[in-house]
Amino acid sequence: MDNLKTNKILAAFLLAGLLAMGGGKIAEILVPHEELAENAYPIEIKEVAGIGDSNASSNKGPEPILALLASADVQAGMKLAKKCTACHEFSADGKNKTGPMLWNIVDASMGMKDGFQYSDALTKMEGQWDYSSLNAFLYKPKAYIKGTKMNFAGLKKPTDRANMIAYLRSLAETPVALPSQEQIDAEKSEIN
Ligand code: HEC
Repeated sequence: MDNLKTNKILAAFLLAGLLAMGGGKIAEILVPHEELAENAYPIEIKEVAGIGDSNASSNKGPEPILALLASADVQAGMKLAKKCTACHEFSADGKNKTGPMLWNIVDASMGMKDGFQYSDALTKMEGQWDYSSLNAFLYKPKAYIKGTKMNFAGLKKPTDRANMIAYLRSLAETPVALPSQEQIDAEKSEIN
């Protein structure tokens, strides 16, 4: 290392030392209090927003979607499924890839596709992929099943989830029934 460089580094250390010793005083001169306050807050807000989602409803969980299913757009759901095809196949003779094949998934038992190695977290889940559990899972997979190995952020828009689930419903020889009015009402009072 040449001398000039060494000197510069020494100077930097000295300055740092002085700043540390001079403490508040120098800091006050260099960075007035008001400016500090201004800087601190936006950073905090940004971090909080980064963890969740920028929209205000992100902490409330998924909005109800049963009412949207009857009028959902299966074609739009099929287009959305491009987000899934890196990991999933959808056809009746589809194979397991990074994720299990998804033909006949609505009302199927969770974690039961033949020959797929599920995570412990999903294996432990009991129950079915009905409309509500699919709504919750697709909203934020890692929140609904902590420890799932499905690396997908989620579909935040209720219409996207409804279209996606309507498409999944269509992937069966006999698609399961659409939700009844009672189920729609029950879901609304449960979630809201
Ligand atoms: C990056 C890969 C990846 C993407 C993208 C992805 N998935 Fe998955 N998915 C997985 C994996 C891996 C699992 C198994 C999770 C486990 O075992 O914890 C899974 C599991 C599932 C299950 C549960 C299946 C069962 O048999 O229990 C459903 C339903 C599902 N995914 C739907 C979707 C949909 C719909 C999309 C697109 C909107 C999607 N996934 C996008 C990798 C992915």
